[in-house]
Amino acid sequence: MNQPYGLVRARPEPEFEIRVDGIPVPVIPGQTIGAALHGAGIRSWRTTRIGGRPRGLFCGIGVCFDCLVTVNGSPSLRACLTEARPGDRVSTRAAGEPGGGARDTTGGDGQGGEGTVSGR
Ligand code: FES
Repeated sequence: MNQPYGLVRARPEPEFEIRVDGIPVPVIPGQTIGAALHGAGIRSWRTTRIGGRPRGLFCGIGVCFDCLVTVNGSPSLRACLTEARPGDRVSTRAAGEPGGGARDTTGGDGQGGEGTVSGR
């Protein structure tokens, strides 16, 4: 096995999917949303208000707030600290933008849904 799991003889639970702006992203149980995005090759999902510079994981420990996402209608969650759960609907749009933040009633992906708050 060339996977890191093989090195430590781990047997993770089966992968599941979350949807990020409507796109399925695979998740290994226990991964944060940020780790799942990184694992899927997605390195940036926000831009700065001034200059439009790309942002994604920077510190990876909850300090910089560069990784904010909306999860199941809950805005401004740090992707690097938020564990992904099966069926999560993640929006990379900021609160106040269509499909982002507390005003999100579509689940963030424009495909309908309850936009429920998961209690995070
Ligand atoms: S990457 Fe810095 S807070 Fe998430």
